[in-house]
Amino acid sequence: MFRYYVAENFNPTYARLENADRLSDFMAQRLFMLQNRLHLPLQMWADRSVLEFGPAAGENALVNALLGAYIYLVEPVEAFHEKIRDYFTTWGQDHRLKQLTASTFNEFQTDKRFTMVIAEGFVYTTGPAEQWTRRLASFCNEQGFILVSFPVISGFLIEMLQSRICRMAAERYNLDKFQAADLILGAKWQSIPHSRSFESWANDVLFHPFIRHESLNHPDDIIKLMYNAGLDLYASWPLLAKPYDVTWIRKTPSRENLCNDYAAAALALQPSLLLGQPVPVKSDITSTILPSLRDVLEKELRALDALNANDETTLEKVLDVHGRSCELLTNIVTGYNESPLAKMMHEVEMCLRHAKESPEKISSYFHPGQLLGDLWGSPNFYMVFHRAAPVKKSTLKS
Ligand SMILES: C[S@@+](CC[C@H](N)C(=O)[O-])C[C@H]1O[C@@H](n2cnc3c(N)ncnc32)[C@H](O)[C@@H]1O
Repeated sequence: MFRYYVAENFNPTYARLENADRLSDFMAQRLFMLQNRLHLPLQMWADRSVLEFGPAAGENALVNALLGAYIYLVEPVEAFHEKIRDYFTTWGQDHRLKQLTASTFNEFQTDKRFTMVIAEGFVYTTGPAEQWTRRLASFCNEQGFILVSFPVISGFLIEMLQSRICRMAAERYNLDKFQAADLILGAKWQSIPHSRSFESWANDVLFHPFIRHESLNHPDDIIKLMYNAGLDLYASWPLLAKPYDVTWIRKTPSRENLCNDYAAAALALQPSLLLGQPVPVKSDITSTILPSLRDVLEKELRALDALNANDETTLEKVLDVHGRSCELLTNIVTGYNESPLAKMMHEVEMCLRHAKESPEKISSYFHPGQLLGDLWGSPNFYMVFHRAAPVKKSTLKS
């Protein structure tokens, strides 16, 4: 994945923390995410060793340093290193930057183990999830945490649709890719606050060669793989804690039960991830229907991924499987036919049916005010795992 950033010569997440105002806005956003959404106490960073893979220019790493952590960075794009060093010097954190290595996630070697291991926004491109979950766990110490973010299949429908529609339009109408993207999605992009340029976003999201069906995961799989690697889910965004839980507080479920509960909650969240807003799920659904939705959404994403401007059958295939997704949702979502999700799925269908029209016409599906113009799905999951250290009897003194 990093070779793409070198070839296209861009930093996808560069936040230009050049003055105190920009840094303070960035920090406020990041701290809210860590503290309020992921429930990580900010004190936990103080004097801890944090290993971060793929920091790009290191904005998040700088925040960790300002919280008192010692920072170890592994970033394969050497062109980003200068900015990282610059940030740490400008903001008086040189003493906290312990290591900056030009290596990849799979090649990096160290004997040290860390309290926090971070891999945001790329690790899913480094190989099968069985492999990267195990490798992340291997860097984590006995009391360690892992913070990881990755795109999920059930939240990725709108993103994949936008990506493939823009690519098709560029090819069909012989347009520059940014021109096609701007014609179709320019107004939608302008309607949200952003800190990066349209081109940077388009390169990172719409035209990214790794935005492929094979790189996407199911959140329940990641929870189970981490469980196999000896780590339990500590926190996540979106939340996976059981709603309305009134269990006796001292009741201690097994690791396996907890893992299964979180995985089930992730499956029930699929309609909400699709829409990017809360969607109530019926209480009387069969135990197989949510796994069936998982399968059919995976097929839909695979078919969308393969959408080809010169092959009519690829479009028919997406429409066919999209119809099956809608049928399943009818049986899963409370009041589906009148719901925003049904409207969104209908707009997706209409957009696909008119996918061959000019970019100007297709853009009408993505104008702010249309559902597809206002919605982004919920493509990325953030998860924090921890190694639950057993209480050793020998350490307990009476
Ligand atoms: C989308 S950016 C995310 C930057 C930052 N982690 C964030 O979330 O804001 C992906 C970063 O991962 C790096 N990267 C890509 N492939 C990598 C790999 N195999 N090993 C380590 N880093 C990688 C890229 O160079 C880039 O800096």
